[in-house]
Amino acid sequence: MLTLERTADLDRWKREAARGALDFVRPGMRLGLGSGSTAAHFVELLAERVRAGLDVVGVPTSEATAAQAMRLGVPLTTLDEAPELDLTIDGADEIDHELTLIKGGGGALLREKIVAMASRDMIVVADESKRVERLGRFALPIEVVDFGLAATTRAVAAAVRGAGCDGPIRLRHRPDGLVFVTDQGHLILDAGLGQIPDARLLALRLAEVPGVVEHGLFIGLARRAILAGREGVRVIERS
Ligand code: A5P
Repeated sequence: MLTLERTADLDRWKREAARGALDFVRPGMRLGLGSGSTAAHFVELLAERVRAGLDVVGVPTSEATAAQAMRLGVPLTTLDEAPELDLTIDGADEIDHELTLIKGGGGALLREKIVAMASRDMIVVADESKRVERLGRFALPIEVVDFGLAATTRAVAAAVRGAGCDGPIRLRHRPDGLVFVTDQGHLILDAGLGQIPDARLLALRLAEVPGVVEHGLFIGLARRAILAGREGVRVIERS
């Protein structure tokens, strides 16, 4: 259990990391706006700049981010209007030394990946606790269609084993007990793998399962990570 103090520290660090990303925002940029609590800090800080006259436009990666941005007056567009973005700023659930990410803890991984892929650059913002030596402690979110769920779950389990991983695969539920449904109307399987020895192989195996829409492994997308913790803020660049 996180103590209240620790939760407050984490939230402060998330905000500091998000603030660090503002240095990379230039007037006129088309921005991908991530989802989750760290990305929400970024949207809030960006809105302050917009109110002070910064001219940018954002594509939100979730209904929650869209609602927040609209409430705070950040101008929004869509990937249909602006299919090429300059920069996406988003959080992550885990970040390894190559800046491979696990994302989707909040269930927005599909739109997050589409937006990140449409961006020339991606910066991931997080507190230091997200930095790991090896990915997999955080259960990997896998977005699936509801048709044939039991068969898809078996196929996902086989794909996971084929990539040298193992662990329970659970259908995600909301805190009120109902099945979690994504903004795109899909379901999420959370694969508790413990460790992922080869993220690329796992990504390939999962992509071969017809019922899988997308998975939360973001490989080769983030070029920079801004991490904040007890020691301050540091920027890591992918080599
Ligand atoms: C949303 O689906 C996720 O990919 C988030 O980016 C990720 O879960 C990080 O969220 P926090 O910033 O709330 O930790």
